[in-house]
Amino acid sequence: MAQLQSKDLLGITDLTREEIELILDTADSFKEISERPIKKVPTLRGRTIVNLFCEPSTRTRTSFEIAAKRLSADAVNISVTASAIAKGESLRDTAKTLQAMATDLVVIRHSVSGAAKLLADVMDCPVVNAGDGAHEHPTQALLDLYTMRERFDSLDGLKVAIVGDIAHSRVARSNILALGKMGAEVTLVGPPTLMPAEIEKLGAQVCHRLDDVLSEADVVYVLRIQLERQKESLYPSIREYATLYGLNTRRRQAMKKGSIILHPGPMNRGVEISSDVADAPDSLITDQVTSGVAVRMAVLYLLIGGGSDG
Ligand code: CP
Repeated sequence: MAQLQSKDLLGITDLTREEIELILDTADSFKEISERPIKKVPTLRGRTIVNLFCEPSTRTRTSFEIAAKRLSADAVNISVTASAIAKGESLRDTAKTLQAMATDLVVIRHSVSGAAKLLADVMDCPVVNAGDGAHEHPTQALLDLYTMRERFDSLDGLKVAIVGDIAHSRVARSNILALGKMGAEVTLVGPPTLMPAEIEKLGAQVCHRLDDVLSEADVVYVLRIQLERQKESLYPSIREYATLYGLNTRRRQAMKKGSIILHPGPMNRGVEISSDVADAPDSLITDQVTSGVAVRMAVLYLLIGGGSDG
């Protein structure tokens, strides 16, 4: 079986283009399982997967759990408020505890960049980063690529505009890296205060006016405004942000024919995206969620599906 080189999936940084293609092709073969009346195969029977989510999540946590169960693995969810982490236990001790219980794979979300790497360095089993601070969210980028590839077949030369809070977004960072490796052309759009210094070094262009990119982009990828990660207000008001950068009906009408709208969720309807645009036929936001299950099944299979040793 073709495999990933690393024990863990910590970021898109560590993946080659061939490995990304392997994950997307494997997801293709798993997608139809979710369309069956009995949505289960025995592939990971007897394996134990722990979801350790130290930050809120709906999509990522649920789809990792569903992915594990559809592959017949035993999925265990640890809620931070109901765990010893709430009593001050360190991440390292939590890792050792999970290892002592013969866990086969850990999925972690954490507010601190590098938390997934810390866990991976302590544990023998694979660790999957489900979002660490503003660093990376690799499975989100992979499911986004999968959704784009379903619509456009090839990502080579695809024009993708990523709009919004680039500075605080692990989703943006993972997508810039992933799209670049797949040959897409990425333009980052947002106010200067939400644009990290020297971001062009990752291979993306920068534009501060959303209206300038709409007629060219094949994909308009709208990011959530992350009020919880901003220590100070980085734009005058939510209303002004929505006026300058919100994807509304007028802007949707200015988009290229055949283009699509993506958003990782959760959405702030009426801020970065208007409600009617979020629900428009060219918005593939729920398709992204569907892709997420197939992509996460692929990731789990490629990391621990290769026999008794994983
Ligand atoms: N896109 C995403 O990571 O959503 P959740 O926070 O709901 O997992």
